[in-house]
Amino acid sequence: MERTFVLVKPDGVQRGLIGEVIARLEKRGLKLTAAKFLAVSNDLAEKHYAVHKGKDFYPGLIRYITSAPVMAMVWEGTNAVAVVRQTMGATRPWEAAPGSIRHDFALEVGRNLTHASDSVENAQAEIALWFSPTELVEWQRCSDDWIFGKN
Ligand code: GTP
Ligand code: MG
Repeated sequence: MERTFVLVKPDGVQRGLIGEVIARLEKRGLKLTAAKFLAVSNDLAEKHYAVHKGKDFYPGLIRYITSAPVMAMVWEGTNAVAVVRQTMGATRPWEAAPGSIRHDFALEVGRNLTHASDSVENAQAEIALWFSPTELVEWQRCSDDWIFGKN
């Protein structure tokens, strides 16, 4: 089953939106595989956002993600990468689809509440960066067959 990496960023934590993000992902049918609440070190922030190094917003992005704790999670499900990105909405909240998290709760690109992996390859790399293999929980959910279907 496809997996993706999700962060509730510092603004989401400070604004009390951890539960809202989790509720939306759960209700969509995605299945939680791992979760932890942590303060992000500079080293981890720089590794996570290495692709943005050199961009004008990069120093602010590192300050933002290290400014307060985050909730890091792994979610799985059919097309998990794409459906979680859709549930989060576009990077720029003013372009996010109505009903998405960034549309409903955010205004600024630099305070857009969540992160979600943008490809299956990046999801695998981000999961490996943020979690050790033993922190990933394989489990049977009683609703799996009702949500994922049974072939
Ligand atoms: P993530 O899920 O956080 O990776 O967002 P994304 O994939 O929708 O966007 P992208 O990877 O392009 O950018 C990563 C993060 O950098 C965004 O979520 C924003 O918080 C921030 N960011 C991107 N572009 C800008 C920008 O033009 N200005 C500012 N201030 N922040 C930006
Ligand atoms: Mg991104």
